[in-house]
Amino acid sequence: PSLISDMAKDHLKTGGKRFRALIALQAGSALELEARSVTYWAAAVELLHNATLVHDDLQDGDELRRGEPTVWRKYGKGQAINVGDLMLMVPYQILSCLDVEGEHLRQLFGRFSYRTIETVRGQSLEMTLRENLNFDRETYIQALRGKTGQLLALAVEGPLVLSDMEPQQAGKIASSFECLGIAFQIFDDIKDVYFDKGRGQIGNDLREGKISALTIAHLEACPKDRPALTRLLKKPFNDVSKDEVLFWKKRFTSSGASQACETWAHSFVEKASLGVHGCPLAPLMEQTIL
Ligand code: IPE
Ligand code: MG
Repeated sequence: PSLISDMAKDHLKTGGKRFRALIALQAGSALELEARSVTYWAAAVELLHNATLVHDDLQDGDELRRGEPTVWRKYGKGQAINVGDLMLMVPYQILSCLDVEGEHLRQLFGRFSYRTIETVRGQSLEMTLRENLNFDRETYIQALRGKTGQLLALAVEGPLVLSDMEPQQAGKIASSFECLGIAFQIFDDIKDVYFDKGRGQIGNDLREGKISALTIAHLEACPKDRPALTRLLKKPFNDVSKDEVLFWKKRFTSSGASQACETWAHSFVEKASLGVHGCPLAPLMEQTIL
């Protein structure tokens, strides 16, 4: 548990699922860019990020986020779709106001739309894993690289493009932030069972039938638990009791799954650090993960 607390601290340092804008602004300042264009980019990325959360809460049926009622819970499902759609589109209006050179603008639009597509692809893959009860590590990482990695990468990719970096190099550095997103999401999976994520209870991922880093690591250590865990994940949300969640939390600890997940997450933190070595964004990466 003490290790998990340290890990959770790391998790919080990344700003939770909040403030992708801050990362973009910090990247802009590390690259000594003019504030206005970076601010537009930061706003666009932050809106996109929140669009994915509004739709995600609707898809997951979650009623609370950050301790507040979710948009669909407060305003209804239809309006939540509208709000998410709006926040997916407003960024393009914001980007169209950018006063930057044509080639930069083309790249910014291209990267923004490409990584949005990859985010949706990741989210969709995660749902497919859930439907097929696929506990494969590699496929899960692919889903995380999509649903969480792309948005972190996008936050820094805009400033990198604006700094006149060659697109391939900018893409490579931005991809290191994908690894940070993967690590973040693995921590997030642990946090769902070991800490309250502002939803008033632990274990919502289990209640929602999600494949998570914990369930994957647990079944790797304890394959005989697969039928029982599958039965749990197939239950409707409200049929999973607190005692069942506590039972599995204990199993995840005793099988070494939580520890394995930490190691797993840290391997991505390391990849993220190595990927920015010697680049102006290295201090930002350090600051985000330390
Ligand atoms: C959040 O994913 C949505 C995206 C990253 C697109 P999760 O469903 O795993 O996380 P929480 O628990 O809702 O924040
Ligand atoms: Mg969710």
